[in-house]
This record gives sequence, C-alpha cells and structure tokens, in this order.
Amino acid sequence: MEHRKIYIETYGCQMNLADTELLIGLLKPHGYEQTQTAAHADVILLNTCAIREHAEERILKRLKELVHHKVRRPGVRLGLTGCMAQHYREQLLDKAPFLDLVLGPDAYRNLPSLLAQEEKDEPLVSVRLDRDETYADITPLHGEGIRAWVTVMRGCDKFCTFCVVPYVRGRERSVPLNALLHQVQELADQGYQEVVYLGQTVNAYRDGDQDFADLLHKTAAIDGITRIRFTSPHPSDMSDRIIEEMATDSKVTPYLHLPLQSASNSVLARMERGYTVEQYAVLVDRLRAAIPGLALSTDIIVGFPGEEEADFRATYDFMNMLRYDFAFMFKYSAREGTKAHKWGETMSEEEKGRRLQEIIRLQERLSGEINHHTIGQTVHVLVERPAKRQEGWMAGKNAQFKTVVFPGDGARPGDLVPVRIVSATAHTLIGQP
Ligand code: 5AD
Ligand code: SF4
Repeated sequence: MEHRKIYIETYGCQMNLADTELLIGLLKPHGYEQTQTAAHADVILLNTCAIREHAEERILKRLKELVHHKVRRPGVRLGLTGCMAQHYREQLLDKAPFLDLVLGPDAYRNLPSLLAQEEKDEPLVSVRLDRDETYADITPLHGEGIRAWVTVMRGCDKFCTFCVVPYVRGRERSVPLNALLHQVQELADQGYQEVVYLGQTVNAYRDGDQDFADLLHKTAAIDGITRIRFTSPHPSDMSDRIIEEMATDSKVTPYLHLPLQSASNSVLARMERGYTVEQYAVLVDRLRAAIPGLALSTDIIVGFPGEEEADFRATYDFMNMLRYDFAFMFKYSAREGTKAHKWGETMSEEEKGRRLQEIIRLQERLSGEINHHTIGQTVHVLVERPAKRQEGWMAGKNAQFKTVVFPGDGARPGDLVPVRIVSATAHTLIGQP
C-alpha cells in the first residue's frame, strides 16, 4: 500500500511533543507515515502552543509560509492542532481562512475520520473538550533515542490566574496505572532506558487510591528502565510519599523542576498559586535534606499585573538565595479568558524586559558557579548522541539532567559512562572519560 505522508511541526512544551507522537501513532494504522519535509506531505499540521502571545504570533507567520504547499499541490491539507487551535477556534479562521482543519487537544481521535472526508471549502473544526479522554488505548510512535516521553495525566484543575492551560486542555484526568506500566514495559523491551513522565501537574496523578508515588515505585520495578524523571510537578502536590520515593529509589533521578513563578507573597496570592514563599522554601529544604545532590530548576514570571519593584526584588533575592541549577524565565503575557487578563497590564514591555534581563543575568552567574563546583567530580553520563562541539565527542546527561560532553572514545548511545568533569559553562559540563 502506498503510504500517505504527514508532516508535523511541534511548538511549546514537552506535552505537545508527546502529543505529536500520539498523533503519528494514531494515524499509523490508517496508512500514514511521518515525513520530515513539508514538500512531500499530504497532510501538514502545526501542533501549537497558546501559553504566551509570542507563541501564537510565530505560528500565524509560519502558517502563511506553509500555505503555498496547498496552492502548488492541490489536495494537500493544512491543519492546526493543540492549544492555540483550542484557544482561538473560529476566530482563527479569520486570520487563516485557508486552514482545512482545526483540532483541540481532546479531539485527536477524530483526525483519521476527518482526513478521510472529501475536501471542503469550509474548514473542519473539532474543539470539544472531553473530561474522560486520556488516549490510554493509543500507542504513540516514540522518537528514536534512549529517552521516551510518556503522558500520565492531561489537563489542569489549578487555574492559576495567569494561565490559559485549564481552558485549552480542560480538566485534570489520569491515564490508568496499568496502561502506563504496560506502555513502559513495551518501551523497555524496545530498548528505551529513560522514561520521563509528563503532565501539567504531573504529581497530581491518581488512579483510584494509587497516586504518583505508587506510579514511580511500580515503574522502578521494570527491568531495562534505568532512569525515571517527571515534569512538571506543582509544589502543592509534592507529597511526603513522593519525596520518600525520590529519596529511596535509585532509578528516580535527583532532579526536580519546581515552578515558583514569583517569590512575593502578594503576587503569589493574586496568581492563586496555593502556596506562600515560606511554604515553598520549607518544601525545598525537605527535598534537599532527603535527596543528596538534588538539582533544582524553576519557572519565573516577571511583570505580572501589580508586580511592584519590591515584589520583583523579592523574587531576585530568593533566586539568589535558593540557587537553582537553572531556570526558565518569562515576561508575563496576558491571555484572553484568564482572570488576570481582566486586570490589564500594569507595566511597560521595557520594564518587563529590564526585570527579565536582570534575573537572566543572575541565573547565568548562579548556573555557572554551580556547574563550576562540579569540576573534579566523576559523574555517570547516559550517552545520547554525538556532540556538536567536536568530531568524535559524545553528549549525554548526568543524573542531575545536566548535559555533559566528552571525547567519545568508542562510547555509544545507551552506554553509561563514568566521566570526570574538567571544565564547565553555565549550560554544559565538559568531561574526560
Ligand atoms: N505569561 C507568561 N508566562 C506564563 N506561563 C504560563 N502562563 C504564562 C503567561 N500568561 C509560564 C509559567 C509556567 C510555564 C510553563 O509558562 O511560568 O510555569
Ligand atoms: Fe497553568 Fe497553574 Fe495549571 Fe501550571 S498549575 S498548567 S501554571 S494553571
């Protein structure tokens, strides 16, 4: 049978990358295979993000670049999936009337039947959110390599006032535990060594009376899987049992991404994050005490409505004190439909930019210092790929999820190589086997 070809570009978070693998897995039984070039594709999809305005602007621009494929090769379908599709829905069609398909994150199951329909003048729109959809029965087509991303829960019930996710991804729901263990066993059989569990609030995972700690514990019993990670947990759902599991299970790596957003209690309250900065700090103390060598990363937003200079200073000082290994830092972007959107903007883009630059500079210095301290240590690198740095060098991650590059010396992807760190930058450790 002649395969039809699908080309997908993915924007945004890891969950979207996992959804792209899901879409390809979903279409495979219907005779589709993935292509890496839009010019060869029968179906072109952009799997999109709506978290910040900037993400949306990029996508509209990209759509306009891709539309010529439809003109040149009649029959080619151009579609939008993911959070931006859900967020904009019909409005989107004013800006991009040439779209054939608009599919929200809970509507992917409809894709094969929509593609089987005759081409219409009107685009096909499917954006109903579904409280129960977990795609538990669909096998995603995982990318090559040693690491597999596995979505364990979808949606979010937290409704932080700045965030569009609960509106575009719907209510929180978990994939049944047995389905996940089965999937990970298959991944192990295929040679994957590292599994990364994904969810918008991944540690809120629940299946009956089993929770995220149970999932980690049972996953660790699967032979062949040597490293287990997860992202992103919510500080409020970081239970003692999960900390205990991280501390005692050697397969669960000593690395945690723990979004803070702000270290001002008045900003945190208006964000409705559900914790104070003191509670967050106590949590970090407990984590660091329980898990030796724990690496921490975070998310920070600057310029949230009403953020005064003193609030920003509190965030700066807290980051300086806490010393994250690295951080993702953003300018606040008002999102339609959220609570904070109604409060408007209270700061110029220039001022947001100034604050952002200030914490980026701080974090660069801290990351550099922290990485510098690892010089002389021996770390275990799970090798992934040839390094771009130099011919013959290899790259991989240590247990703290830091990138390590070293002269390859015959090391192959999947090998666990002890490497002595000889120098470091803010982003990379450089080693010698
Ligand atoms: N503006 C800026 N950053 C945001 N994030 C989520 N919503 C917004 C927004 N409206 C950031 C948060 C979150 C990360 C995934 O994206 O820091 O943790
Ligand atoms: Fe958005 Fe808050 Fe849910 Fe994270 S926890 S996805 S920031 S609403």
